[in-house]
Parts: sequence; structure tokens; C-alpha cells
Amino acid sequence: MLSGTAPCRSSRARAGLLLAVTVLPACGGDDSVLGPASPSASRVAQLSWLLFLAATAVTVFVFAYLAFGLFRRRRDPDEGDDADGDDPRRGERWLLGGGVLLPIVVITPLIGYSVVILADEPDPGAVEVEVIAHQYWWEYRYPSEGITTANELHIPAGEPVDLRLRSDDVLHSLWVPSLGGKTDLVPGQVNTMTIEADEPGTHQGRCAEYCGLQHAKMLFLVVAQPRDEFEDWVDEQRDEARPPEGATAARGRELFASQGCASCHTVRGTDADGRLGPDLTHVASRRTLAAGVLENTPDDLRRWIGDTWDVKNRAKMPPIPLSDEEVDAIATYLETLE
Ligand code: CUA
Repeated sequence: MLSGTAPCRSSRARAGLLLAVTVLPACGGDDSVLGPASPSASRVAQLSWLLFLAATAVTVFVFAYLAFGLFRRRRDPDEGDDADGDDPRRGERWLLGGGVLLPIVVITPLIGYSVVILADEPDPGAVEVEVIAHQYWWEYRYPSEGITTANELHIPAGEPVDLRLRSDDVLHSLWVPSLGGKTDLVPGQVNTMTIEADEPGTHQGRCAEYCGLQHAKMLFLVVAQPRDEFEDWVDEQRDEARPPEGATAARGRELFASQGCASCHTVRGTDADGRLGPDLTHVASRRTLAAGVLENTPDDLRRWIGDTWDVKNRAKMPPIPLSDEEVDAIATYLETLE
């Protein structure tokens, strides 16, 4: 007997664990619709809870009625006439009540509330960022500030920031769950959205529209900073790259030019002016690599350069045959680009 219950319990535990693993990452934490950190995300969270409660109420009602229908005592057909069952209007009344009236009563106020809550237009922001989606990374251009960066969107906290969204190739979608809803980036079209963070802090964003093999590895960070820190960051990003110090870094810079890196990447202040990949002028100041896939650590930087498709198979950056010494030199050079 015991041997029969043990596997059952363990498979139930496994199912529970699987459910928890699937469901829990969506709840709580910094990267969640249910942990709103902006005015618009708060409205989305409020609406999510309301829809969840309404759906729960309808489900409970329907199942209670189903149980009532299944378990109530039936009349025996042999036991005289069945006046109830013969009423031809009975089925019609059920159809109209359950199929038309109930949905109207439940859905109309929910639609009205959704429209009111989501139509709230935010004020135009003082900062505007052009967001360009690429397979599989994010480019951010700040036209008024005259800077370009990638995969790490800096914004001043407590202020609306206007985003102008474009795509360089296919359909993508920008989503920062804790800061608000999604907006698509459509080829040949400019969409706009406003993003705002209540407090300084870092938020995880992602591409929310399947855009190819590495769609899942198209992440980014939103770094909300106090106004003065944001301005300091802008000043640093405006600087051109400093010339490398030390023999290894200088060799790295040569390899960066001779091995083809420079034909896809820009490093301002040098001859590297490629536009296909992220601007690397200040790559060392960023927290992640490969669009949020790796931490920007010495080991991961070397892995990304030397083993590109192992990190992100079929990424646009091709694997370049480099010796360990060459990888180290290029990484050492990039580490000077703060
Ligand atoms: Cu870009 Cu999915």
C-alpha cells in the first residue's frame, strides 16, 4: 500500500513544483506586473486584479450552477406528468439569460472601466528617446542630449520620458512589466509611448513579440536615476573614448579594427564607425552584455567575444576565429571604454 502512495505523492509534489516554477516568476519581485513602479503600471496592476476577481466570481458562479444542475434530485419520468420539462420557453430563457444578459452585465462595466483607466494620457516628458529594435538588441538615441547607447535605457526618475519606437527589421515589442504595458515596434512606422519610474531603481525589460530564434535573449534594463545622476550619466556618455593605456589594450584596439569588429560597431573618437551593432564607446559602463543575457564581467565579456554563438546562437555578430590571447586583448581594450 505504502509503495503505491509514495510515487503518487512525489508526482503530485513534482506537479506542484512545476506549477510554482511556471507561475511564481510572474509574481512579485522587481520584474512584475504585480509590483508596479510607475503611474501607468499601477493602473495596469489595478485592472489586472479587477479582471482576475471578476473572472473568479464568474467561474465560481458557473461551477456552482453546474453542480446544482448535476446533483439536484431528478423527477422520475414514470411518475406522472412533467410540467416543468414541457415548458418550451424554458430553454430559450436560459439561452438569453446565460448567453446574452449575463455577459452584457459582466463585460460592459469592465470594458468601460478598462477604457477609462487606460486612456489616461500622461504629460509630455522633458526627455525623448528614440528606441530602435534590432534582431536582437535595443538601440537608444537621445537626440537632444546627442548620445547613443544600447540595451540599457537610462531615465530620470519621477518624470515622464517619451519613447519613439521604431524597428530596423521585424516586429518587436517593448515591455517593462513593472513600468507599464507593451508597445510594438513595427517596421516602417513610429509608435510612441511614455515611460516613467516613481523612484530611482533598475527594472528588467524584454522583447514581448516573437522576432526570431533569439527573441528570448532580447532583454534590457531601465535604470531610473535622480535628475542630477542622470545628467552626470549623460555627460559621461557624451565623451569620446579615451585612448587605451597599456600594451594589451592597444593591441586589442588594433585587433578590433583588423578583425572586422569596427565595421559593425562604433567607438567614437576612433575610426570604428560601424552602425550594424551596438555603439561600444562606453560599453564598459553598462551592466550587461549581449542584450541583457550576460553580466558585464571580465569572464563573460571574453566568452561573448570568443564564443559568440554559444551564448546566442545565430546572433548577427558572427563567430570570429580568434586565439585566446586575441580575445583577451580585445576584451582588455573594451574594458577601458568606460
Ligand atoms: Cu525582438 Cu522578440
